[in-house]
Amino acid sequence: MTKDEMKKAVALAALDYVTVGAIVGVGTGSTANFFIDALAGIKHKIEGTVASSIATAERLKGHGIPVFDLNAVNDIAVYVDGADESNRYLHLIKGGGGALTREKIAAAASRKFVCIADESKLVDVLGKFPLPIEVIPMARSYVARELVKLGGKPVLRDGYTTDNGNLIIDAHNLTIMEPAKLEAQLNNIPGIVTNGLFALRPADVLLLGHEGGVRTLTGR
Ligand code: 5RP
Repeated sequence: MTKDEMKKAVALAALDYVTVGAIVGVGTGSTANFFIDALAGIKHKIEGTVASSIATAERLKGHGIPVFDLNAVNDIAVYVDGADESNRYLHLIKGGGGALTREKIAAAASRKFVCIADESKLVDVLGKFPLPIEVIPMARSYVARELVKLGGKPVLRDGYTTDNGNLIIDAHNLTIMEPAKLEAQLNNIPGIVTNGLFALRPADVLLLGHEGGVRTLTGR
């Protein structure tokens, strides 16, 4: 199987977690795009979606799938999204596509978080993929200095602005032995809007595409 075939397989497998009449949270990225395309096939069975980015909202609408503002819904039954890295506890690094803030909000507001990825995303220790951090523009240099103190090498994502009008710093060189602890530490730095660690609210299910099909991992 190619990487794209693996992404398609996990996207299709994620449909099993979508219940009739549900509002579905939808992530961002190439794997999430395969899920959106698969969801189009059962759109008549769901009430609608909440999107984690403008790009995702547009793709959903392109398929005629209703997209709701999060403030207009009481309950997201399931959130389906990709990841840049996952460990065996389903702690994730996300934000390679820059949508981490809305993704983290949507994941937090959802009853179940189903992560879909190809097997290359499963790692023993998080951090080889540079950790994306969304920052308020005026705090850019201050946050970069704080990241250096934590052992990271901050690199500003050149020419990139998030859907929320902020910047992304990618923190390289981090070996993340305690993801939840680092996530909380980063949450306490003024100027950081969101960091790309999803450990305090990890995925509940990881559907991993591999040569032989789809493997299901559960974290708790
Ligand atoms: C976007 C994300 C994506 O889920 C992550 O970057 C994985 O993307 P892809 O499915 O294209 O590999 O966090 O902000």
